[in-house]
Amino acid sequence: MIRRPMIAGNWKLNGTVTESLALVRELRNRLDKVRDCDIVIAPPYTALHPVAARLEGSNIALAAQDIYWEGSGAYTGAVSGSLLKEVGCAYVLVGHSERRQLFGETLESSSRRMKAALASGLVPILCVGETLAERQAGRTDEVVAAQLDAGLMDLSHAQLAKVVVAYEPVWAIGTGQVATPAQAQQVHDMIRERVRARDVDIAKTMRILYGGSVKPENAAELLSQPDIDGALVGGASLKVESFAGIVEARPR
Ligand code: 13P
Repeated sequence: MIRRPMIAGNWKLNGTVTESLALVRELRNRLDKVRDCDIVIAPPYTALHPVAARLEGSNIALAAQDIYWEGSGAYTGAVSGSLLKEVGCAYVLVGHSERRQLFGETLESSSRRMKAALASGLVPILCVGETLAERQAGRTDEVVAAQLDAGLMDLSHAQLAKVVVAYEPVWAIGTGQVATPAQAQQVHDMIRERVRARDVDIAKTMRILYGGSVKPENAAELLSQPDIDGALVGGASLKVESFAGIVEARPR
């Protein structure tokens, strides 16, 4: 397999420190033998530091759910890449649809976040995806391509090679209405083609995750698609059984 699978859990606004540490203990116990897959969890900001300490020496990496592009200064409420690195993050989500829809994130701001993440030594997981109205209007490729182009804009070859992309159709997030494997594969293929136009080799190695109502029951079929290299999991990442079930559904 050219691309190592990645299963990432986006905990969103869920998890006190106590709850997060309890879940981490269960995940470590359950997943400590997994060697052929990158496992990533993204707890809320407040749990990052204590969770990082509990992940030491494990095969589970830490992600933040967002990043601000300035390094320091008068930016109330913002968290920079260097602060995320300091507490032990290796990854950061960028441009999640909830950030775009609820917090006013734009194509331009996602581009700044991507550059800030890479400049801080974090691996960005760039989230892209269309709404139901955009899909019904036949605009899926156009919308996803615009988000992808903005996120990858002006990155160097070395930076582009580090990026992970997550295709998350907005209509499939938290709805239980998962994209069919064929629907997801079609968009993943389009994304890889677009990266290929920039760099043939990076297109071969770039991981493209699917997100949106991934569960243990639908994971194996999604993950067996040729251009689906992993999953970005919301609701099902909050329980050890369902998250581990998705990790165990990876193709081997
Ligand atoms: P669900 O798995 O709850 O649909 O959430 C997907 C998601 O938004 C992950 O980032």
